[in-house]
Amino acid sequence: MSEKRGSFTGKLGFVLAAAGSAVGLGNIWRFPYLAAQYGGGIFLLVYLILAVTLGFTLMTAEIAIGRKTGLSAIGAFKKLDKRFGFIGWLGSLVPMIILPYYSVIGGWVTKYLFTFLKGDMPAAATDGFFGAFIADPVQPIGWFALFIGVTAVVVLFGVEKGVEKVSKLMMPILVVLTVAVAVYSLTVDGAMEGLKYYLIPNFDNFSVTTILAAMGQLFYSMSLSMGIMITYGSYMKKDVNLASSVSQIELFDTGIAFFAGLMVIPAVFSFSGPESLGKGPGLMFETLPKVFNSMGFAGHFVGGAFFLLVLFAALTSSISLMETVVSILRDKLGWSRRFTCLIVLIGCLVLGVPSSLGNGIWSGFTIIGMDFLTFCDFITNSVLMPITALLTCLFVGFVLKPKTLVDEVEITGPFKRRQMFITMIKWIAPICIVLILGFSVLEALGVITV
Ligand code: PFF
Repeated sequence: MSEKRGSFTGKLGFVLAAAGSAVGLGNIWRFPYLAAQYGGGIFLLVYLILAVTLGFTLMTAEIAIGRKTGLSAIGAFKKLDKRFGFIGWLGSLVPMIILPYYSVIGGWVTKYLFTFLKGDMPAAATDGFFGAFIADPVQPIGWFALFIGVTAVVVLFGVEKGVEKVSKLMMPILVVLTVAVAVYSLTVDGAMEGLKYYLIPNFDNFSVTTILAAMGQLFYSMSLSMGIMITYGSYMKKDVNLASSVSQIELFDTGIAFFAGLMVIPAVFSFSGPESLGKGPGLMFETLPKVFNSMGFAGHFVGGAFFLLVLFAALTSSISLMETVVSILRDKLGWSRRFTCLIVLIGCLVLGVPSSLGNGIWSGFTIIGMDFLTFCDFITNSVLMPITALLTCLFVGFVLKPKTLVDEVEITGPFKRRQMFITMIKWIAPICIVLILGFSVLEALGVITV
């Protein structure tokens, strides 16, 4: 299975491909609303600290595991130690749960793109537009079906190569546009208040849930703890510098998230006031049309271009999520590609519908107090991913031994952050994850309040 593996041509190819999977709705949609909800500056600070410590450690470990074994998650853990193949399985559950609700949000982006293309920007900028849209029982499901349908067609016909080419062109434009809209957002009246909220940490807003939310976001945004980076690592050539590739992917991913926050949070203060900070998943959709609308005529184009690029970033991510799910099922069950795509598509449609309806007619149906979409998000980001990350750390720290992966990293020269890597993976990361996970699950179940 491993002999005929293709590989990325060089470091740039690897970094861009991994960044393509990492950069998606997580950066542009999810990061700003979490930062707004969990205290602004304090969330940003916790996130940045986690990114350079935990994020760096886990991404290095996953890519090194992939490159060392030449296999994707399930096979990789099994090859390293027969008893631990289950960690790969656990991580594989994550994309299966994420893909349906990711596609519901992808559907929302598609709807906004069409709204802008039709010239309906002023309507999209009114209060209540978004709420009415997601509460509708039919429309959002139609857009969701379109989004997941396109994803499935690409995965079925394997036109990823074409998608990759286009996204290499679109991603840089997305970066430029995000920075430009962020700068524009800052010039709007009242934005400075929001800028302060976003950049200056206020320790009164700190709680254990801040760390859990930031940690879940880190995993989500960097595609960690779901086997993806192991697969990417398996395609990486031995002469590429692993540690510096990880730093570059992180910088790229965190940079886009940071600017997305800058684009959204100050604008929330200008257009809706701080009471809207806790809006949750709808924040970007309610705020950005107002920003574009305030640009006057040019807003039609800037907004249209923006939603087009976000749609592309979302599609590249959903394609890699579906591709992962399809290949896991095919490896295990030996189904044909076509049949597997069909089954995954049907599964996604079935699981996505309650995520969509939970914002409207099924809002009364909740699991531990959460609507279905929020629950899927919680169970993956705040439970399954931390558990997978914990098991990965313990496995590498005490079974495989960090030295095995350090040697893999050092193929191309000394590993500067070697000591940090070893201490993090053996001690700090596992202890922190257990504490944070314990507290937050107890809190979600209503046993304690922190
Ligand atoms: N990292 C992506 C994002 O931030 O949107 C989400 C994701 C995409 C996770 C693809 C995993 C994956 F395979």
